[in-house]
Amino acid sequence: MEERRDTIVISEDEEDFEERVRGAALALREGALVVFPTETVFGLGANAYDEAACRGIYLAKGRPSDNPLIVHIDSLEMAGPLMLEPSPLFEKLAETFFPGPLSLVVRKNPRVPDVVSGGLDTVALRLPDNETARKLIRYAGVPVAAPSANLSGRPSPTRNEHVLRDLKGRVDYIILSTKEPIGVESTVLDISSDDIVIYRPGGISKERIELALNRRVSYYDASQLSRGEQPRSPGIKYKHYSPSALVFETEKRLSPSELQQLAEEQGLGLDELSYIEYESDVEMAARLYADFRRADDEGKKLVVVKAAESGELLAAALNRLARAKSNGKPGT
Ligand code: TXA
Ligand code: MG
Repeated sequence: MEERRDTIVISEDEEDFEERVRGAALALREGALVVFPTETVFGLGANAYDEAACRGIYLAKGRPSDNPLIVHIDSLEMAGPLMLEPSPLFEKLAETFFPGPLSLVVRKNPRVPDVVSGGLDTVALRLPDNETARKLIRYAGVPVAAPSANLSGRPSPTRNEHVLRDLKGRVDYIILSTKEPIGVESTVLDISSDDIVIYRPGGISKERIELALNRRVSYYDASQLSRGEQPRSPGIKYKHYSPSALVFETEKRLSPSELQQLAEEQGLGLDELSYIEYESDVEMAARLYADFRRADDEGKKLVVVKAAESGELLAAALNRLARAKSNGKPGT
């Protein structure tokens, strides 16, 4: 069982915010766990060079230890020592998309602890587009390993109340935000070999990556794995992003009587069903996880989603919806 910690809560709108972030950053450097906002979802950070602190991340989340962490940096100078060798592809993509919601999987330098990379010989690097996240990393002076700041198996946190609920008492600091984030996580792109693949669609679309690289890029296809073979990105095999309620997707809008009928078919009352329509990709990305959490809080048994239909964030939002519908093990 994870020990209980006293959590210091800091908010971006406090007068002495600057000083308090600096305090959190120095503590992080020395081994503390710090929850912080990013432009995508909140992260649960630790000094990426501190093995014990990074093990603490897995404990605090209850996360399987083979699922690697993204390392957050504040400058390209910070990336160099984390990488095995210089990478022109990394430089090109960093120049185009950093800071921003893109994590680049590169061959890792041996100094990156195995606990961070989940035993892989690669590491995911990302430079977040959020002033507070960047201050924290800059003041800490070390790269910050951080998964999404949810308890394992819960939807990623996009609101202050989500991180307080999941992690207060399990981490040393929580930094609250005054901004609403994009709401879906970064795109995870593997550029460590000639076979460039997207493991997770996110804030930067496949099309924009293709345009920047002037070549085709594919989504990683985990459906072709043979029995017992591990996916190249461990997070793929875990069920995350999902509420406890069942999740259904509907292609067309449902009327009140159709919803009534659906509830009856599932042996539920209409008040146990939550029906959500998203008008745009931006709205769907921003609200999906919060809506999942609200459905659970309200004791709903079934969430029915009518997805948005177009836009750059649609692939990411649809991917999270599909994952919420699937039946994997609880995971990250
Ligand atoms: O937007 C985000 O990326 C957020 C914020 C906090 O930065 N972070 C995040 O981290 O979503 P996490 O740990 O919840 O998801 C990271 C995903 C996992 O599915 C993991 O398996 C994959 O990235 N990943 C990390 N390092 C990898 C590597 N070296 N090779 C393949 N996949 C990797
Ligand atoms: Mg996660």
